[in-house]
Amino acid sequence: MAEPVVDVSGLAKRYGEGTVFDSVNLRVMAGESVAIVGESGVGKSTLLNCLAGLDSWDAGEVRLCGQPLSALDDTARALLRRDRVGFVFQAFHVLPHLDVAQNVALPLLLQQRPDGARVAEVLRAVGLGALGARLPQQLSGGQLQRVAIARALVHRPALILADEPTGNLDPTTATQVLDLLLAQTREHGAALVLVTHSDHAATRTNRLLRLSAQGITES
Ligand SMILES: Nc1ncnc2c1ncn2[C@@H]1O[C@H](COP(=O)(O)OP(=O)(O)O)[C@@H](O)[C@H]1O
Ligand SMILES: [Mg+2]
Repeated sequence: MAEPVVDVSGLAKRYGEGTVFDSVNLRVMAGESVAIVGESGVGKSTLLNCLAGLDSWDAGEVRLCGQPLSALDDTARALLRRDRVGFVFQAFHVLPHLDVAQNVALPLLLQQRPDGARVAEVLRAVGLGALGARLPQQLSGGQLQRVAIARALVHRPALILADEPTGNLDPTTATQVLDLLLAQTREHGAALVLVTHSDHAATRTNRLLRLSAQGITES
């Protein structure tokens, strides 16, 4: 059997005495899409950060493309993330002094393979084809969200982690963005883990998981 893109086993995260989650198990294969739902504050963003090796945990393991993250130092984690992961952050994290096209080009520059045609293609796919030269401050919230999505897809990552990626979008644009994310799984074999509050988005993925204080359950 093929190796999962992400393999989470017995993951626990605590802050001091408080437990955010305890014994989360999750495997996502190439080409598979998973929606994670759960109440605010239950630890969805924390879990995504752990999957990307951006946060630490207290027990368990995360394997990304077969590699146990706990065995990797910060540099090795950063390289693995650079090559394999596209992350759509809830708060976008778009760099304010770079224009839209430069923001989207960043993952390719970090890999030392600049590709203006690919940047233009992804910007068109998110409906920002005409806005490449704009600065982030000249964009709406929904447009910024699409910049963040384009940046997460530009380098064709094996794993796409998206934290409420349609939260700021009107229904039509939300559907387009979701179509685009799901197309990466079908057409490019990416694994997608999508945190969402949208019932509609949650019905469109292959699997639906609910995160609670008791752990993660599949429905
Ligand atoms: N640095 C921190 N110190 C203490 N508690 C934190 C910290 N960061 C997050 N938390 C807590 O962890 C829990 C999970 O947060 P989060 O992952 O953002 O939830 P969600 O994304 O599901 O809304 C929340 O109860 C939050 O208050
Ligand atoms: Mg969150």
